[in-house]
Amino acid sequence: MNNERSVLISKERIDKYIEKLGLEKAVNIDVEQIKENLKTKFIGQKIYAFQEVDSTNTVAKFLAGSGIEEGTIVIARSQIKGKGRRGKKWESPLGGIWLSIILRPEISPQQAALITLGAGVAVTKAIRKFDVDARIKWPNDVLVDDKKIAGILTEANSKSRKLEYVVVGIGIDSNLDSSSISKKSKIKATTLKEELKREINETNLISTLLEEFEDVYKDFENKDFEEILYKWRNLSQTIGSYVVIEQLFGEVLKGYVVGINNGGSLILELNTGELKKIISGESHIAEISKFENFDEDL
Ligand code: BTN
Repeated sequence: MNNERSVLISKERIDKYIEKLGLEKAVNIDVEQIKENLKTKFIGQKIYAFQEVDSTNTVAKFLAGSGIEEGTIVIARSQIKGKGRRGKKWESPLGGIWLSIILRPEISPQQAALITLGAGVAVTKAIRKFDVDARIKWPNDVLVDDKKIAGILTEANSKSRKLEYVVVGIGIDSNLDSSSISKKSKIKATTLKEELKREINETNLISTLLEEFEDVYKDFENKDFEEILYKWRNLSQTIGSYVVIEQLFGEVLKGYVVGINNGGSLILELNTGELKKIISGESHIAEISKFENFDEDL
């Protein structure tokens, strides 16, 4: 099959899928306004906006698998089955920013973890432009005063050890009340509306986020991974803190965070003085005074 024909078939596939999801029902997201403000070359130059979807990541993965251009954005006012990390549900009512970015980076699947760190930098910098003191908690939570304000879920698809595409899903709790999101989870949450005591202009936040994202993504394209790590370290709340780490299979570790290495792994100094590399897991920042009794605090 020649390329032209395969592109045509994909376009038809995409159009049918989008029609089924009801693109025309997307209200309240002013795509034209986002584009008007946007100073990017490719991130967000194509935007699919929906009123409600299961998950923007799911839609983005379909579009990515159908050959859509890099930088395409999927955004929704609400999600029915919003996905969080480690199989958790992500509460996504009206009033938040729920979007996914499709990427086709020429890096190895191992380096994909750095994209999440880069996304954390972009989200944090965008929120800080609204005068809210956001910082990153490893690996990819964005916090304000220890309360979660945004999360990132990166999903990648690789074939024969090569990355086909990466979908970066970003959720920012913007114009909503934390009571509508933190009831079911044990996590302490906040929102931009609560921090600023007013609603923010979401169109501006989306454009700012997309610009910050393209900026950090340029570092990937230039293979300047050190630059991403440098930016991440400067915005990190985790480095220099005592933490409790919950690993995937239930192992719990506690220690002092010395830094992150060039693969994005956390370097933890245990009580014994041993340095331990943590590739994945969930970190909880502990106050030093509480740290000795962390079993009770968990
Ligand atoms: C986390 O902190 O657990 C990650 C949350 C990621 C949520 C976003 S909202 C947009 C995108 N679509 C999803 O279903 N999840 C991500």
